[in-house]
Amino acid sequence: MNKSIVIAVDGTAASGKGTLAKKLAAHFGFAHLDSGALYRLTALAVLNAKGDPRNEADAVRGAQSIDLSLAGDQAIRTDVVGQAASQVAAIGAVRQALLDFQRSFLKSPPGGSPGAVMDGRDIGTVICPDATAKLYIDARPELRAHRRWLELKGMGIARDEQGLLAELNTRDAADKSRPISPLKLAPDAALLDTSDLGIDAAFAAALALVSPRVEGALRDRHRG
Ligand code: DC
Repeated sequence: MNKSIVIAVDGTAASGKGTLAKKLAAHFGFAHLDSGALYRLTALAVLNAKGDPRNEADAVRGAQSIDLSLAGDQAIRTDVVGQAASQVAAIGAVRQALLDFQRSFLKSPPGGSPGAVMDGRDIGTVICPDATAKLYIDARPELRAHRRWLELKGMGIARDEQGLLAELNTRDAADKSRPISPLKLAPDAALLDTSDLGIDAAFAAALALVSPRVEGALRDRHRG
């Protein structure tokens, strides 16, 4: 059986990695998984059960009871859930509980697709170190906070931008400094800073960075 083609998209909070991952998946006809949604669903399950996201037993119970049908739900997009997601994500047993799902998604992408795009924090470093192509997306914190502010506003949630900036910085620092699967640039990942790029320009840049490897892998598959 052919090995599936994988594009790993890691990066900081609200860097635009999710949007880029979705667009890359649509471009190549690949499946897409937002791995952050798995941690957010875990956090939501813990919060709904009145548990503590920092408590291992509560968090693991949350990871074991996630409802994937809520992955597209706005309830997981709030910043309260984002912070709690970062807390459950620092627990090794939670990451372990979510590992198989992510690896099987990449091994056999749904719909018989030849490839998958997965975005998160540890996709190119831990989940799939031999990914076909790897991107690391970042942007200046002030811009990311502004984008998140606009996104929340669109959801009818009014937030103070400075407060959002402080939360993003705290969350990034926690995600980068945790001992297990921290967010870091994989040695073979291409760094893309989207600070000064609109969505179309950022997508064009992302595509230019991954295309040579992905097109090469697609050609190999057709030959093989
Ligand atoms: O990408 P996001 O903002 O939806 O992710 C929410 C949190 O989940 C993030 O702060 C850290 C955690 N996460 C992780 O640790 N590993 C991943 N692969 C994806 C997300």
